[in-house]
Amino acid sequence: MSEAVVDLRSDTVTRPTPAMRAAIAAAEVGDDALGDDPTTRRLEEVTAELLGKERALFFPTGLMANQTALAVLGRWGGEVIVEAGAHVLNYEEGAAAALSGIQLRSVHTPDGLLDADRVRPAIRPVSKYAPRTCAVAVENTHLFSGGRVMPLESMAGVATLAREHGIKVHLDGARLWNACVASGHSPAEYARHADTVMVALSKALGCPVGSVLAGETAVMEEAWRVRRRLGGAMRQSGLLAAAGLYALAHHRAAISEDHARARRLADGIAEIADFSVIEPETNIVLIDVHQRVPGPSEIDKLLLFLEMRKILMIQFGTNRLRAVTHRDVDDAGIARAIAAFGEWAASQRRI
Ligand SMILES: Cc1ncc(COP(=O)(O)O)c(C=O)c1O
Repeated sequence: MSEAVVDLRSDTVTRPTPAMRAAIAAAEVGDDALGDDPTTRRLEEVTAELLGKERALFFPTGLMANQTALAVLGRWGGEVIVEAGAHVLNYEEGAAAALSGIQLRSVHTPDGLLDADRVRPAIRPVSKYAPRTCAVAVENTHLFSGGRVMPLESMAGVATLAREHGIKVHLDGARLWNACVASGHSPAEYARHADTVMVALSKALGCPVGSVLAGETAVMEEAWRVRRRLGGAMRQSGLLAAAGLYALAHHRAAISEDHARARRLADGIAEIADFSVIEPETNIVLIDVHQRVPGPSEIDKLLLFLEMRKILMIQFGTNRLRAVTHRDVDDAGIARAIAAFGEWAASQRRI
C-alpha cells in the first residue's frame, strides 16, 4: 500500500470524518438569509454561549468575518491598530482599505503579541489633522510568530486601554481554540476583553467550511448587514453549520494531541544540526534552514525533497518553513517528517 500524504501545510487541509458527514447529511435546514435555518441558528447560539456574547453570526470564511468586524468597529478614513504580522494586514488582500476605507496601523513586536504598552504609542491623539483611531485588532494565537498564545493579562490590558480611549477591540481568534487549550483559559475569558470575536471552525476543529463572529446584539445586527453586503448571507447553510456543531461537541478535546505532535516534530527536527526550530506553543512549527553555502535559498530543493517523500509544508520566509499539525496527521506522519529531514541533512553532507 502506498504511503499517505503527510500534509502539514495548514490546519485547514483536514477532511470531514464519516461521523461529521453523517451530521451534515442529517441536518435540518431552512433559508438562513430569511432567518429560518434552524441548524445555523443553533450553531450561532452555541458559539455565542461559548464566547459569552449575546449574538453570533455564521460566516463562510474567517476573512469575511474579520473584515465585517473591522467595517463595523471602524469607519471610513479611520485607523485600526494591528500587530505587523497580523493576518488582517498581510493575508486579506488589502480588504480593510479596499472594502471599508480603513487604514491599518502596524505595531512591530518581537513575538507578534500586542499588549497595552505596545498599543498605547500607536493610539493617535485627537486631532483634526490625523486619522481617528477606531479599534485595535489582536490575533490569538498569532499565526506569523508560529502560533504564539496571547496571555490573558495582555488581552485584558489592551481592553482597558481601549476603553480609556473610547476605541473598540476585535479578536481574530481563528485559532482561539488552540490558545485556550495551551493556556487553560476558556474562550469566554478571552472573548470578554473584545467587542467582536472571530473563531474558525475550518481550522483545528476539522470542518470543511466556516467561521463565526460574535459580539453584542447591536454590533451583530450591523454585522449582519455588512455580511450581506459582502455576499455572505447564505441559504441552506445548516449543512455547513451541522459540521460546526458536531466539531464543537466532539473535536475540541483532541487539540492537545495536535500540540503534542507539534512539539515532537520540533524536538525531532531541532536535533538535526542543519535546522533550528522555534519552540511551538500550539500547533505551528517554524523551521529555519541553515544555509550551507551562500547563494539562493535551499528551501525550494528541500520542499521538493520532502514532497517526493509525500511530506508537504510551505515556505514561510526566505529560509523558513512552516509545518502545522492537525487532526489528519498522526504519530506515524510526524515520525516520517522527522526522518525525511534527517535524510535531507545526510544527503547534504554527502555533497
Ligand atoms: C489568524 C488567521 N485569521 C484569519 C484567517 C482567515 O480564515 P479563512 O481562511 O477562513 O478566511 C486565517 C486563515 O488561515 C488565519 O490564520
